[in-house]
Amino acid sequence: MDDEGTAGWPEPVVRVQSLSESGLATIPARYVKPESERPNTNPNKLVVTTKEEKGEEEGGEGDHHQTNKTKMSIPVVDLSSPRAPATARAVSAACREWGFFQAVNHGVSGELLRRCRRVWKGFFHLPMEVKQRYGNSPATYEGYGSRLGVEKGAVLDWGDYYFLHVRPPHLHDTDKWPHLPPDLRETTEEYSREVASLCGRLMAAMSAGLLVGAGGERRLAEAFGGEEAAGVCVRVNYYPRCPQPELTLGLSSHSDPGGMTVLLADDRVRGLQVRHRAGNWVTVDPVPGALIVNVGDQIQVLTNATYRSVEHRVMVNAEEERLSVALFYNPRSDLPLAPMPELISPERPPLYKPMTFDEYRLYIRRKGPRGKSQVESLKAAAGDDDDGR
Ligand code: OGA
Ligand code: NI
Repeated sequence: MDDEGTAGWPEPVVRVQSLSESGLATIPARYVKPESERPNTNPNKLVVTTKEEKGEEEGGEGDHHQTNKTKMSIPVVDLSSPRAPATARAVSAACREWGFFQAVNHGVSGELLRRCRRVWKGFFHLPMEVKQRYGNSPATYEGYGSRLGVEKGAVLDWGDYYFLHVRPPHLHDTDKWPHLPPDLRETTEEYSREVASLCGRLMAAMSAGLLVGAGGERRLAEAFGGEEAAGVCVRVNYYPRCPQPELTLGLSSHSDPGGMTVLLADDRVRGLQVRHRAGNWVTVDPVPGALIVNVGDQIQVLTNATYRSVEHRVMVNAEEERLSVALFYNPRSDLPLAPMPELISPERPPLYKPMTFDEYRLYIRRKGPRGKSQVESLKAAAGDDDDGR
C-alpha cells in the first residue's frame, strides 16, 4: 500500500483512508481493540439526521450498568461576556467538575469555522500521492500521519491526521503545511489566530475562577511563561468510514498532554466521548456553532488537580466519515511546570514534580494514547520524593 519506507516508524505506514476506500468488509486485526476498550454505545447511530433522532441513542449501556435513562452531557458555557465574574464561575465550575465544556458565543465566526472544516476536508480528499508528500515521522510528528506512538505491534486507531505547529515562531513553518486546497494555509492561519486569542480569554476566565484577588486572571498565563510564549499546534483528525465500528476506535482513550484544547468537532457526525467521574462514557452531542474546550494535563499540574484533564476517545461509524480540528494551547515548552504556590498548603501538598512540557510530551509520542497513565505516573513520583518537591 505504501512503499515509501518507514520514515522512523516501526512498521510501514498504512493510511486508514486507503483501507476504508478499498471496501473491505472486515477490519485488519491491527485495528481490533481488546473487548474492554471497545465502544459500548451503538456506533452506527452517530450520524445526526433528524432532530427527532437526537437524544435517543444513549443511556443504559454504560460500563457501569446504568439503569436510568437520563442522558448526561458536558456543560454548555456562554462566553458572550468573557470578563464577567459569572463567566469565570461557569468556566471554573466546568473545569472542576468535567474538565470539558462546549463554548457558545465564543467570538470566532461561524463562517471561519465552516471554512476551516471545508479546506481540511478538501485536503483529505486529495489524491493519495499528493498527501503522501507530507508523510510525517515520529521525530516531530508534523505532517500527514496515521499513528501515534512507535511501539512495534501496537493496536492502531482507525484514523489519519495532519499535525502542524503555529507557535512559537521558530516552529511555524508553512512549507510543512499542505499547499492545497489553495486557501488552506491562509484559512488555517486565520483560524489558529482567532482560536489562540479565544484561548487567551479562556485562560483569564479559568484563572479568575481559580484565584480570588487582584491579578488573579493573569496567573495561569504567567505560569505558562506569558501569553506571547504559549505554544499553539493543530491536529486535524480524519476518521474514515469503518466497516466494523463496534470493534475499534478512531482515537483511543487519552487525556491531552498540553495546556488546553479547543476542538472544532464535526457538525453532523458525533463520535467524541468523555469519561465521566463515575467511569461511564458520555457521547458529546455538538451544539451547532459551538467549540469544545477541555483541560489538558499541564493545567491539571499547575492547578494541583483543582482543574482536571479528562479522558476522552473517539468512536467511528460505518456510514459517514468524520473530521475534527483540535487546537492545542500549550505552556512554553522549556519551562519546568509544577503546582502554583497559591494552590499549595499543608493540607494540600503539591501532587506533581516539576517537569517541562518538552519532556512530558515524549511519553505520548512514544507510547501513543494511554488514558491518564502519564499524569498519574507524575503523581506517584511526587509521592516518592522525600523533599516533597
Ligand atoms: C484529539 C482529540 C477528538 C475528536 O485530537 O486530541 O481528542 O473528536 N480529538 O477528534
Ligand atoms: Ni484529545
